[in-house]
Amino acid sequence: MSRDRGGRQARLRRAVKGLLISSPGRDGWQRPAAVIGALGIRPGDRIADLGAGTGYFTVHLARATGPNGITYAVDTDEDMLDAIEEAAARAGLANIRPIRADGGALALSERVDLAFLCNVYHHLPDQRGYFARLAAQLAPGGRVAIVEAMPGGRMARLFGHVTPPGRIREDMQAAGYRLESAPDFLVDRVRQSFQVFTRSEAPRAVDPIAARRP
Ligand SMILES: C[S@@+](CC[C@H](N)C(=O)[O-])C[C@H]1O[C@@H](n2cnc3c(N)ncnc32)[C@H](O)[C@@H]1O
Repeated sequence: MSRDRGGRQARLRRAVKGLLISSPGRDGWQRPAAVIGALGIRPGDRIADLGAGTGYFTVHLARATGPNGITYAVDTDEDMLDAIEEAAARAGLANIRPIRADGGALALSERVDLAFLCNVYHHLPDQRGYFARLAAQLAPGGRVAIVEAMPGGRMARLFGHVTPPGRIREDMQAAGYRLESAPDFLVDRVRQSFQVFTRSEAPRAVDPIAARRP
């Protein structure tokens, strides 16, 4: 039997799942413009929004790359892929590609400059293995940005869906990444960590002062 996608039941199911992921006031605490701004996305970038849900961040990411970029919206839940298609159409964006993920496996058709995950880390099976495999899907200099609820916040109280930021750093280091930056503007109000990683072997930016020393 084929899955009902366009019927009333399907729309209701998507709406309920969407509300569980994103409350209407989310922009106020999630600060998507600040998150996108901190990522330094360039026009034409390729991005994977892993565990994209209803496409809340996908739409912001796709706008940031402009029409020459592509944002792959990856999720295991087909209802969410339908919701992403709807969100892309509503936003008038033609540069979003919904992709069905199969748990720990990920097969994109091209390498990406940025893999972005918001509130997905705790869902992933074997995070160290997942991010070690993800390295093959990153373009040279590619980065992984992880936003994740921390202990002590609303998500922790309601669902227990949290990962301490130190645990994420340990996993990422074990998977072959190093921390590039950790903007802290989501920590106080919403208790989310925001950490950006690059591959350990990626060349470090040259420190201009150190470079001038004899
Ligand atoms: C809490 S929601 C977050 C959605 C979105 N990132 C956001 O911030 O609005 C987690 C999403 O991750 C998806 N997910 C869970 N495990 C996954 C996996 N192994 N690969 C890809 N997506 C996954 C779920 O289906 C769900 O849509």
